[in-house]
Amino acid sequence: MFDHYTFADFAGDEETFFSEYFNRKPLLRRNAIKGDPKDILSFQKVDDLLNLESFHPPYIRITQGPRVVSETDYTRSTVVQRIAVSSVIVPERVYELFRSGATVALGTLNNVIPPLRQLTRIFTEKFAAQTDISAFMTPAGRRGRAPHHDAPDVFVVQLEGTKRWTLWEPPAERKTKRRIYDTIEELGEPTMDVLLEPGDILYLPFNTPHAAEAKDRMSLHVVFTIRPRLWEDLLKSTVAQLLDDPAFSGFPYLAAPGGDAPVGELKEMLRLLQDKLGALDPDAEIDRLVGTGRVGVEGSSTSRALQGLADIDDIGPRTELVRTASLVHHVDAAADAQSTRVTIEGCSANLPSVTAVSLQQLGPGDTTTAARLSPGLTLEEATVQVQRLARLGALQLAAGRDA
Ligand SMILES: [Fe+2]
Repeated sequence: MFDHYTFADFAGDEETFFSEYFNRKPLLRRNAIKGDPKDILSFQKVDDLLNLESFHPPYIRITQGPRVVSETDYTRSTVVQRIAVSSVIVPERVYELFRSGATVALGTLNNVIPPLRQLTRIFTEKFAAQTDISAFMTPAGRRGRAPHHDAPDVFVVQLEGTKRWTLWEPPAERKTKRRIYDTIEELGEPTMDVLLEPGDILYLPFNTPHAAEAKDRMSLHVVFTIRPRLWEDLLKSTVAQLLDDPAFSGFPYLAAPGGDAPVGELKEMLRLLQDKLGALDPDAEIDRLVGTGRVGVEGSSTSRALQGLADIDDIGPRTELVRTASLVHHVDAAADAQSTRVTIEGCSANLPSVTAVSLQQLGPGDTTTAARLSPGLTLEEATVQVQRLARLGALQLAAGRDA
């Protein structure tokens, strides 16, 4: 749905963003969203979510001024499929609270709405860091949360109504912790004071103090939150990786009589760690750190496993297939030599021996078709064999080719 969005749509020219704004100063981009901002999220879509009966806390959080409204004030218990379910939203109560001035926050919507998950991936890829998307609704004329700074870098996207944002200089020491400021006076003079309109984007480096206030119309905006990985976080990961070695699994007796018993051992451990750090290839380590920030992070992973399995059903005799890197072991051939048992990543299968032999000759990345893989079999039988091998993971559809 959001395939047409790129990082540049949110941040502008990528080189300029990373050289001038990233981690340095706020960036305001007027009317940056392509098409209708309400396609991302709208009051109407939020109505649908609130009435869904499967949308529940902690994905919704309501605040009235500094007070967080207890979820028992706007949820109930019910029975679904004869099983008791708690924390089901009562939309009327949410509307009532909103009308009385509360701010409604819908957090981590990337866990709820697939197209929004797709959008967070754009940031996860670029920053190699976990990204979430949350929405905030504020009634007209109401200030949102008290002036504060947040732990993550944020991209604010105004979707409906308007909101005035006031920003201040970040504190001298920036830490990845949220902070609420007691008074505006302690923040000094604002560095930016803008009224965001639908389609506008505002980037705030982490720890930028801000306050936001809805003006003459009720406001809806989303925020992409990107969790910074500071050097201390990255180096902890590097050292943890190096310490994952049996050489460091000893259990020293630290309180031994005499006090200095394990000192020699500690020196030895430090020397070993130092050697490992010295031998580290920085390029490879950066690649590993980028990988850990992109793959398997919560809230943005995607899989098309079911669609992939369905596509296998359409593989035909002439479909171009690629041998994957899956491990295939040939166990033994049957007594009549017609079939051979193989194991593919732990799963056993009996293949016609001609197919098993051809498979053995293929290396990862080599291409084949049903007919080429099973010479001597009918096209129909050969097709059944490649479909089986695709389901077991030994073959996959060649990129860009349809079944
Ligand atoms: Fe904030």
